[in-house]
Amino acid sequence: MKLNVIILAAGKGQRMMSDVPKVLHTLGGKPLLSHVVETAQQLAPSVIYVVYGNGGDVVKAHLQDLPVQWVKQESLLGTGHAVLQAIPFCEELSRVLILYGDVPLISAESLSQFLKTTLEDTLGLMIAEVDQPQGFGRIIRNPQGEVIQIVEERDANEVQRKIKEINTGMLTAPAKLLKKLLPRLQNNNQQNEYYLTDIIALAVAEGVPVKACKAACVEETRGINDRTELAAAERYYQRRLAQYWMSRGVSIADPARIDIRGTAQIAADVFLDINVILEGRVIIGKGSRIGPQVYLKDVEIGENVEIYANCVIEGALIEEACKVGPFTRIRSGTQLKARASLGNFVEVKKIIFGEDSKAHHLSYLGDALIGSRVNIGAGTITCNYDGVNKHITQIGDKAFIGSHSALVAPVSIGQNATIGAGSTITRDAPADQLTLGRARQTTIKGWRRKLPPVETVS
Ligand code: UD1
Ligand code: CA
Repeated sequence: MKLNVIILAAGKGQRMMSDVPKVLHTLGGKPLLSHVVETAQQLAPSVIYVVYGNGGDVVKAHLQDLPVQWVKQESLLGTGHAVLQAIPFCEELSRVLILYGDVPLISAESLSQFLKTTLEDTLGLMIAEVDQPQGFGRIIRNPQGEVIQIVEERDANEVQRKIKEINTGMLTAPAKLLKKLLPRLQNNNQQNEYYLTDIIALAVAEGVPVKACKAACVEETRGINDRTELAAAERYYQRRLAQYWMSRGVSIADPARIDIRGTAQIAADVFLDINVILEGRVIIGKGSRIGPQVYLKDVEIGENVEIYANCVIEGALIEEACKVGPFTRIRSGTQLKARASLGNFVEVKKIIFGEDSKAHHLSYLGDALIGSRVNIGAGTITCNYDGVNKHITQIGDKAFIGSHSALVAPVSIGQNATIGAGSTITRDAPADQLTLGRARQTTIKGWRRKLPPVETVS
């Protein structure tokens, strides 16, 4: 039987106290709704409908690349009403799975298991037993133990409120059954809403079997309503990612102090020290070590690379056995070739830095093509910007740039050239020779500094 997924995402999310719709808030750097859609996709459904609400156009605009069909719920009249907006579009002979845009941690494994244990012609509920059932719909069973109804917290009596078996919200049923029962929902409850949960009692009355399945992992079923729950979900998500990478041979100094916001690809025998942040698309090759407080965004790192403490690296390709840091900033468009090294307080942008080349201290290198085995002395600066345009600096293989040199681009330094320390280089420097561009040092003979008047004691 084909699977159709409906994701409810029309709620305002008032408790977030935010101008941003709740499902656009992020977990691991990705909107909550994208998590749910990606998980749903893994179940290979024939279609995914997202029910969005008034003011939710920004959600649709922001996530328009998601492979889903958008269905608008004009006014928020309850979860049952929300499903009713999408159900006419569902395939007649399909099975429907209902998910929530603000329950992002649910895994595809748990959902597959849920679908497997629920027969196709059955109404399946994912339930959980929790210590603090406040806020959830309670599962009501008859003396034979069969589920007969769900009562929402607000409509529950004293006895029902004590029930610890709750509705996670996730539900599956044949499209045909939903098409038949949803229009019969009433809104005679505390919130005057059409509750999806009321279809349980309707199904029981029709003699349709209802099967309650315990969630494989209660933590995955947690919804996000406020910032505290969002932060807790983030920690859970990060811990799960850390466990995943550790199980693949990655060493993580402290799994509670790592953040992966995006798609990481980390090889075995990589070591990640505390407070490492990986954002966007990050690839780290075998045996590389990332020091404490390192921020990597959209970076590809080869094998056996050492990144020392406190580096900020974005949009770069760092080849094998390079050494970077501590305190290095690499900006986008940078490529460090094998065994290159950058040290303390070196900032680079849009450069190719050749094999075995070094810039160990206090430099700015931007818009430069630097050959192999080049030595860049401390304090060297490429003056790449004339106030209007950026210009290129080229440095040939084995060149030696003396400390505190300013290379005024466009300029080219030949292979094996030497630049004397403290030079300002405004014209091309030839290969193999020493070029200097600085005032000559002179000593003035016989010059004497004025002496202060001798102080007299009174
Ligand atoms: C719902 C369930 C409750 C369950 C709980 C689990 C109902 C009536 N209650 O309660 O049994 O224990 O989830 O978290 O279903 N939404 C719409 N349109 C609407 C109303 C809601 O799309 O008109 C969406 C919301 O964006 C949200 C989801 O449906 O993603 C759940 O709605 P919410 O109001 O949070 O339901 P709960 O009160 O949490
Ligand atoms: Ca909720």
